[in-house]
Amino acid sequence: MYLFNSEVVKNQKLTQNIFRLRLKAANDFCRAATPGKFVMLGSDDGLFDPLLRRPFGICRWGSDWFEVIIKVVGRGSSQLSKFEKGVSVAVHGPLGNGYPNNNPKNDQKTLFLVAGGMGIASIASYLFSALDRNQSLAGTFLFYGAANYSELILLNELTAADAFGLQLQTITDDGSCGRQGLVTQLLTHELQSRPQSQVFACGPEPMLKSVQKVLLEADCDGYLSLENRMACGFGVCLGCVQTMINKDDDANVKTAKVCTQGPVFPARQVIF
Ligand SMILES: Cc1cc2nc3c(=O)[nH]c(=O)nc-3n(C[C@H](O)[C@H](O)[C@H](O)COP(=O)(O)OP(=O)(O)OC[C@H]3O[C@@H](n4cnc5c(N)ncnc54)[C@H](O)[C@@H]3O)c2cc1C
Ligand code: FES
Repeated sequence: MYLFNSEVVKNQKLTQNIFRLRLKAANDFCRAATPGKFVMLGSDDGLFDPLLRRPFGICRWGSDWFEVIIKVVGRGSSQLSKFEKGVSVAVHGPLGNGYPNNNPKNDQKTLFLVAGGMGIASIASYLFSALDRNQSLAGTFLFYGAANYSELILLNELTAADAFGLQLQTITDDGSCGRQGLVTQLLTHELQSRPQSQVFACGPEPMLKSVQKVLLEADCDGYLSLENRMACGFGVCLGCVQTMINKDDDANVKTAKVCTQGPVFPARQVIF
């Protein structure tokens, strides 16, 4: 992982409160990025306000840049969302484990990607990484849910991925795009005909809890990307710990640091 000051290349407003920030990065940083990893971002103005950097998934990257999608929810995200071209940003990353390697072609498994709200930033990193390497997405489904049509960001790029074989299904709380309902309904329905699938999911905790329930009922393996609040991002503050089943002994529980041991965990292990 690297600790450096980067520069904003572009800040694109996607919705009223969601922004796509492209930042400069060294080639080494970009080579270390993999789908599901994240960065800690903060101001580089010397005022340390807010004091702590904030975690954001690395959504897409090239040879000398990377992008994050920022939803404004508080002070840190609001500050980052206002950074314009040329502004210096403190970056720490790539951090975390990312999604496991998955090659549906080799193991004949279908891959179901499940994204709720801003969870799409993490899930899209898997898709963009495949697209940028001209890798087929045959056998890959994306179930993408949000509150309404305007919250379904990146839709143009995701729709274009159907040329690579991606099967995209959207669902919204108000029915303004795709079916009306919750994203787990799409997963439940498709899992019935493909119970041996692999599943990667990212979204708000109630959604992840629901995905876990669906997976356990179907006796299907899957991975959840958690977004616990983080202070340091590199394993020293214990602010991000999550209770897990101790896989060596189902009767015992243990805690895991989401920043260094995650953010991606086997769904069967997480205790919500
Ligand atoms: C690994 C990881 C990846 C993430 N990726 C993204 C991403 O790609 N895009 C994105 O927009 N956000 C992402 N987040 C969430 C993002 O880090 C928080 O929204 C951000 O830190 C909030 O900082 P703030 O100063 O703006 O808000 P604060 O002032 O700290 O908090 C404002 C409100 O947001 C809530 N909040 C803060 N952090 C979280 C969190 N992690 N989960 C749920 N609620 C929270 C607080 O409880 C409070 O109600 C990610 C978080 C993690 C841990
Ligand atoms: S955020 Fe500090 S230990 Fe994980």
